[in-house]
Amino acid sequence: MSLADSFQKLAKEAVRLVKEDVKVVGLGSGSTVSFIVREIARLPGKESIEYVPTSLQIKLEAEKSSLRIADENRIPHTDIVFDGADQIDKKFNMIKGGGGALLREKILISAAKKVVIVADASKFVPSFSRSVPIEVHPMARSVVSKKLAEMGGQPMLRTLDKGYPLVTENGNFILDTSFPSILDPKKMEVELKIIAGVLEVGLFTRRADIYYKAKNDGSFETISFQRS
Ligand code: A5P
Repeated sequence: MSLADSFQKLAKEAVRLVKEDVKVVGLGSGSTVSFIVREIARLPGKESIEYVPTSLQIKLEAEKSSLRIADENRIPHTDIVFDGADQIDKKFNMIKGGGGALLREKILISAAKKVVIVADASKFVPSFSRSVPIEVHPMARSVVSKKLAEMGGQPMLRTLDKGYPLVTENGNFILDTSFPSILDPKKMEVELKIIAGVLEVGLFTRRADIYYKAKNDGSFETISFQRS
């Protein structure tokens, strides 16, 4: 039994949340959401649902499974969004954006009636220990880097393997920024967000309704904050 078995099992369980009244499903990005998409593809009622992708990666995956892609004006009607995470702290704040899709993921998560996060156990940490992806307008790269350094951060422009800057699907850059500590993620999210030129911050402080934790032995744990 492996982590992949665990994702497979929990994906089956997670898609049971797509009940008959669900009309719009949001799809985050990354490898774990791909498991969910492949499982949604097996649902008998999948044709009656519209799907909002957050990146080309997951859009292609959804297209492969013949899911109906929604127009962006359907975002306010998103019933449920499935997404992954890069780190989840003990208060269930998250760092996201490892795949560069943080801006669209934040829009969808802020709009959805229900948020479901799927991640392997190694991503659940007592406190954040990785850099925070920050999407910035290209014109603001230097000025935002300077401000982040003044806040104690160490910004690194995200690049592709050959050293070219990564350009997001929105035409922006990402500054992966290490901070000595993040004591109050919500406060930091707001402080970073108000810097002119910052378009989105990879700190996600809306607590999800359900977290699925995948384990190496093929099992998984469900952490639910849903109202019954
Ligand atoms: C995309 O930008 C991220 O927020 C992803 O949700 C995150 O990187 C998790 O990806 P995996 O599911 O591939 O680990």
